[in-house]
Amino acid sequence: MKVIKEIKEMQKTTADLTRAGKSIGFVPTMGYLHEGHERLLQEARKENDYVILSIYVNPLQFGEHEDLDHYPRNIDHDLSVAKRNDIDFIFLPENKTMYPAPLSIEMTVSKRAHVLCGRSRPGHFEGVVTILTKLFNICRPTKAYFGQKDAQQVAVVDALIQDFNFPVQLVSVPTVREDDGLAKSSRNINLSPQERSEAPAIQKALQKGRSRLMQTRNPDIQEAIQETRQFLERETRGKIDYIELLSYPELEPIETFDRQVILAAAVYYENARLIDNTVFHPG
Ligand code: PAJ
Repeated sequence: MKVIKEIKEMQKTTADLTRAGKSIGFVPTMGYLHEGHERLLQEARKENDYVILSIYVNPLQFGEHEDLDHYPRNIDHDLSVAKRNDIDFIFLPENKTMYPAPLSIEMTVSKRAHVLCGRSRPGHFEGVVTILTKLFNICRPTKAYFGQKDAQQVAVVDALIQDFNFPVQLVSVPTVREDDGLAKSSRNINLSPQERSEAPAIQKALQKGRSRLMQTRNPDIQEAIQETRQFLERETRGKIDYIELLSYPELEPIETFDRQVILAAAVYYENARLIDNTVFHPG
C-alpha cells in the first residue's frame, strides 16, 4: 500500500497502469472511514486490478455555518482500514495541493441540485463536482464507487460524468446500516445517546412511507409524505429539514406515481444533520 500526496505522482502512477492495460477502481472519501466506506472499497477491490482510495476533506463543499472545523478525522485508523482491504494507493493531498490558488473557473450544477440537500446546502454540490472533476483527472479511474446513502450525490455525479464525458463508469453501492437500521455515517458520533436512540426512526419512517405508496395503484402522494412526516415527528425530537418524493435519478417533482422514485429525508440534531433515503419503483 502506497500513500501518495502529490498530483503529478498520482497521475504518473495511473498513466503507467492504464498503459499496462490495468483497470483502476476509485473510492473518493473524506476519511474517518466506517463500514459504509469499507463496502465501497470491497466492491472496488473485487472488480478492478488496482484500487485507489482518496481521503480529502474538501472545504469547497462545506457551507459557512457547516461542520468543516468539526469534521471528524483519524488518519491512522483510515490507513489500517485501507490496509485490511488490500488497497493499492491512498491519495492524501493537502489543501494547498488541491487548491493552490483561488479557482479561475467555477462550476454550476443546474439540475438535480436545487432539491433535497441542495436546497439547505447551497453551493454544496458545486463543491462536490469541482473536487470530483479534479480527482477524476488526477486518478483517471476505470470505475468510481459511490454510496447510495448519498443518493443525490450519485445523481449529480451521474450528470457530471455524462455532461463532461468523463471516461469513468459510475458504480452505486447500497447503503450499509447499523443493526437498528440507522445508516452508517461519520456524523453519527456527534449524536447524543438520546438522539442516537431516536435516529433509526428516519429509516423506519421512510419504509412506512414507501409501503404506503406501494399499497395502491394511484396513491395520494401528499398524504403519504404527510404521514411519513407525522410518524417521524412522533418518533424523534430532531428537526426535520425535508421529506421529499422525487423521480430518480432526475430528481424532478412527480404528479403521478409511475416511475422510479426516491423518498428521502434529512433531520437536524444538535451537532449533526443526518440523511437517508429509499429508492423504489411502483408496482
Ligand atoms: P464521504 O462522506 O466520506 O463519503 C464517501 C463515500 O462513502 C460516498 O460515496 C458516500 O455515499 C459513501 N457512504 C457513506 N456512508 C455510507 C453508507 N452508510 N453506506 C454506503 N456508502 C456510504 O461523499 C463524500 O465523502 C464526498 O462528498 C466526496 C464524494 C468524497 C467528495 O468530496
